[in-house]
This record gives sequence, structure tokens and C-alpha cells, in this order.
Amino acid sequence: MNIQNYISVNKQRFLDELFDILKIPSVSADPNHKEDMIKMAEATKTALEKAGCDKVETCETPGNPIVYGEKIIDPSLPTVLIYGHYDVQPADPIELWDSPAFEPIIKKTDIHPDGAIYARGSCDDKGQFYMHVKALEFMTETGNLPCNVKFMIEGEEEVGSSSLDWFVRRNQEKLKNDVILISDTGMISNQQPSITTGLRGLSYVEVEVTGPNRDLHSGLYGGAVANPINILNKMIASLHDENNHITIPGFYDKVLEATDEERKEMAKAPFSLDDYKKALNIEDVYGEKGFTTLERASIRPTLDVNGIWGGYTGEGAKTVIPSKAYAKISMRLVPNQHSDEITKLFTNHFEKIAPKSVKVKVIPHHGGEAYVTPIDNIGYKAANKAYTETFGVPAIPQRSGGSIPIVALFEKELKSKTILMGFGLDSDAIHSPNEHFGVFNYLKGIETIPLFFKYFTEMSQ
Ligand code: BES
Ligand code: MN
Ligand code: MN
Repeated sequence: MNIQNYISVNKQRFLDELFDILKIPSVSADPNHKEDMIKMAEATKTALEKAGCDKVETCETPGNPIVYGEKIIDPSLPTVLIYGHYDVQPADPIELWDSPAFEPIIKKTDIHPDGAIYARGSCDDKGQFYMHVKALEFMTETGNLPCNVKFMIEGEEEVGSSSLDWFVRRNQEKLKNDVILISDTGMISNQQPSITTGLRGLSYVEVEVTGPNRDLHSGLYGGAVANPINILNKMIASLHDENNHITIPGFYDKVLEATDEERKEMAKAPFSLDDYKKALNIEDVYGEKGFTTLERASIRPTLDVNGIWGGYTGEGAKTVIPSKAYAKISMRLVPNQHSDEITKLFTNHFEKIAPKSVKVKVIPHHGGEAYVTPIDNIGYKAANKAYTETFGVPAIPQRSGGSIPIVALFEKELKSKTILMGFGLDSDAIHSPNEHFGVFNYLKGIETIPLFFKYFTEMSQ
């Protein structure tokens, strides 16, 4: 039986099984969901066993368990390591969901005329890692598995993969592979597949600005004492200049600038600024001078406030000068910038620009390094051949703005290249209310993955 037939016979079951795991609210950021993390790890383990892995285990870590599975058919054949994550982002703000985040349903949209699965994690990353489980099922059930396969599905990606360093260092032999395959990114459109060739790094910090030792009456003290919210806003505003360059000294020093050639190549990707603006309901885009929207969102480093709070935000008015103000700030990094160094540069600068009237504290959160991969390796070629067959057109290489810190870590620790075969679309609303994943995309993934295995094995010989 070929893969198309296998999918058409099993389509409903593939959807039902995905629905079952989407119902488990495995939100790694929320300690109240600890039990759901265990439940989801168990469900992943069972799924891998059923799909044909010989050895499956849930590995304890200092955080959530990592599910490891393998099917080794012949040690002399190549080994593909699949990575994915079973944890999801919080569903908040839940009131903005049109249907409950953990009760998956299929709805048709303009972009997904065959329907899309609405649920938290449908695209990021349960729907995408589950494509690999079903692809494995097809290959083992029908005698089409051409090489060895390993799975490593973790439960802390959305909170910075803090146990992964630990796990990868301790399990070098177990994780040994010839190529790593990840579906946790997107592609240009359902008509135009693309392979992600770069990811940005990340430095994430929280800042705390303290003014007076207690909240003050804003009439009695207003104007005479520094208001930490006012100050924090001033400090944040000063982090970009009039051209939207980041003002932290040394921030750009190590940036590996894209060559004119690369930028020319990038500009060939289909992209409509009008559609982009329309989809976001904005009059205009905004960003660093001298770069296009696609470049700003992929090959340039950024600094963004993710949340800011302090003072009185309840109902009505309260006249108060708060004692403290806070913000969470993310910096997306590009190749050659190092997360730890950037965090240090930020910290020094932020402390330096604070007026004497306040104290500032910078608390580093997680980070990760950027990644770029060449396209002249057999992993990329095998992926492209697979896409060409299932989509009818070759894939376009494209650098993404998102981050998957494990990819750089894998390269450093395991010395292997990662192929990012993502099947999501930017419009799938990952991390947002109403996250969804096209039924077409889910099934196309299941169809394309076995071809990658086939061509990668052939090209390895
Ligand atoms: N799957 C995403 C990353 C992604 C999405 C990359 C789309 C490229 C295209 C991943 O789950 C994610 O959200 N990563 C975080 C980083 C992490 C350290 C919290 C991110 O990019 O914010
Ligand atoms: Mn993800
Ligand atoms: Mn994510």
C-alpha cells in the first residue's frame, strides 16, 4: 500500500488520535499542569510504541520527562533523529478563543478550505510531531522503513528547554544520528513549500525598577519623586534610536551581516506587503531602517517588550506613585551573537542608563543561540526532493525569525545538522488565541516525511 492510500484509509483515525492528545492541557509554563505533563508524556510514549518503536521510555529530567523512542533495523544504515515538543503555550487570554483551547474542532477558513484543527498545540507542536509518529506507523506497517529512527520529544520547549542541555550531554551515544529532522516551523503557503534554513537566537530578561520604598500618594509626592513606571518607559524607549536601531553599545558588533547576494536571494521569496498588512489589520509596518519586512523578521536582531506592569490597573482610578515597575524583554539574535554576551551587554547598559533616583535589577531568563544551515547537504536535498514530489514544486530555502534553541545545541553536542521541515503557516496563530493547523498540512506532512526517509537513505549510500 502506498502512502496516499494509507492516508485515505486512515485519515479519520489520524485526526481522532491527534484530537485525543490535543485535549491534554500540557502547558509547561503553569505548575498547576504538572500532572497533565506526565499524562501527555505517557500518551506520547504509547503512541510511539503503537507506531512501531521497539524501545520507548520516558526519561526523568530535573523538569518534565523527555520521551525517547527508537527503531533500529540495522546499525549499518543511517539514523534519523526526530525532535519535537509535547508541551504547549498557555491558552491565555482564553476569552479570545472562539472555541475552547483544549476541545479541538475542525473549521474551514479561506486559507484552509479543507478545514483546520483549532486547539492549543495543534500546530505548535503536537500536530507537527504527531505527523512523524504517523509517518513511522506507515513505514513500519507497510515495510517501508528504509533506515533507523529515533525520537526525542520533550516537554519544556516553550519554557526554554532548560533540562535539554543536561539530557543531551548525558545521552550522546543514545542520541547519535546522521541527521536531525524537526517539524516545528512553518512554510510559505500550501502552494509553495519552504524549508527553514535559519532560526534566531534569544536572550530573555526581566527588569525591575524600584523607586520609593512604598507606594506613595501621587498628590503629596507626585513631581518630587521618581515614578518607576515613567522611568522604566523612558529607559525602554531609549533602547531604539530614530532609525529603530538598538542602542545598546556593542549589540551589533558580532552580527554576521547577510551578503548582498543572500539578500537578493531572500527577496525572491513570494511575499506581499499588502497582504501582510491586511492580515494584521495595520496601516503600515514598522522596523529597522534599511531592511525589508522579511529581513527584519528573520536576519536582523530585535529587542521587544513582551509585558510591562506595575502600579494600579484595577477598576476605576487610584492616585498612586508605585514603588515598583517591571517589564519582560526579549531580544532575538542572529548568527554569531551569543545569548550570554547579549544578556551581559543589556544588563550593563540598563544599569548604566538608570537615573540615581531608582534602583534597577535585571533578571536573566532563558536564552539560546541562532542557527543557519547550508543547503548543499544531503539532508536538505532529500527534504527538497520529498517536497517536490508531494507539492509538485521545489521548496524554497527561508530563514525564520523564531527560535528553537535545541537546534544549535544539537549541532554543538552531537555534531549533526538539523533539517527543519515545518508544515505550519504564519497565519496559524501559534502562541495566540485560536491556534490552528490545516488538515491539508497535517496529512501533507505525513505524506512527505516517509519520502524524506527514503531519499535520505538513498543519498547516504
Ligand atoms: N515552534 C516554535 C518556534 C518557531 C515557530 C520557529 C515558527 C520558526 C517558525 C517554538 O515552539 C517556540 O515558540 N520557540 C520560542 C523560543 C523558546 C525558547 C521559548 C520562540 O521562538 O519564542
Ligand atoms: Mn514549537
Ligand atoms: Mn512555541
